[in-house]
Amino acid sequence: MDAMRKTYKVPGLILCLLIISLVFVHSVQAQDEIDDAVLELGKKTYDIRCAICHGFKGNGKGLAGVIRRMEKNGTLLVVYPWDFTQAVFRFRSTPSGCLPKDDDILGIISRGIPISLMPSHDHIPLEERKAIVQYIKTFSEIWEEEEEYEDECMPVEVKKPSWVGNTESIAKGEVIYKKMKCWECHGKKGAGDGPKAADLKDDWGRTMLPFNFTSGELKRGSSPENVYSTFTTGLDGTGMPSYVDSLNEDDRWHLVSYTLKLMRKTE
Ligand code: HEC
Ligand code: HEC
Repeated sequence: MDAMRKTYKVPGLILCLLIISLVFVHSVQAQDEIDDAVLELGKKTYDIRCAICHGFKGNGKGLAGVIRRMEKNGTLLVVYPWDFTQAVFRFRSTPSGCLPKDDDILGIISRGIPISLMPSHDHIPLEERKAIVQYIKTFSEIWEEEEEYEDECMPVEVKKPSWVGNTESIAKGEVIYKKMKCWECHGKKGAGDGPKAADLKDDWGRTMLPFNFTSGELKRGSSPENVYSTFTTGLDGTGMPSYVDSLNEDDRWHLVSYTLKLMRKTE
């Protein structure tokens, strides 16, 4: 009886394992195929839509480099298409030094960056925009470590208190703006003309202009939440630091109130 049960059980177990492994192998294969197809679509779309500025190799040296050379002759604004081979990104939901989340990059691709030459791409299908995000990650090996830092690089929580923008909070924000020396770069009235502004360079030694609050739209997007994310995560690569360790959450929201005032976005 015992022996019979054994002979019955063993092939059953082997069969089970076989089925499980077949299903597993099949799904891994399917995953690989999806990835290849996504990357192929990403590359195709990137080459058509983005390479002209960001370069076929993602090094920021597309045709727009020509525009930059003209700029050196004094004819155009200073704009540098971003170099993806460094894997340093400014507009992240994640802490300073971290890679951005897929949705951060997707957001930039969709919205574009106001007051620069980076156009909005929300007219192209979402599937193609998502594929570009995956393709951009092939420009740097640093992306291979993305999962390793997942815990440290969780998106920063952004919960706007109801008092943001009220008179008391604006007054507190003004004091913090002075104390934290934001004005050294951004200017006393926020016009981007502080004493450090003229010599500011980004991590690659290129001229970098601090944001001019009186000019209107922010690169990341103009909501109070976006402004809060900027001081909290910092704009890596640009000299605009993160204040997550030097200012508590309330103080950062007071600063949002004051910057909204500088941007004339409070009544
Ligand atoms: C006409 C030129 C142009 C085209 C086309 C263009 N970009 Fe850009 N892009 C720029 C410039 C210039 C910047 C930097 C803007 C700034 O900082 O003011 C930029 C910045 C970015 C950033 C910001 C990185 C960060 O977080 O700091 C991302 C991401 C980006 N581009 C992705 C793309 C993708 C993907 C495409 C194609 C769908 C694309 N861009 C098409 C010019 C362009
Ligand atoms: C060392 C110089 C420096 C200091 C100090 C500094 N910033 Fe900045 N900030 C910059 C630069 C440079 C940029 C523009 C980066 C870019 O365009 O990519 C910027 C951009 C910004 C932006 C706009 C982001 C966007 O989406 O366009 C905000 C908001 C901002 N800073 C707020 C502040 C506040 C508030 C303080 C003080 C707590 C501060 N900054 C301190 C250099 C500085």
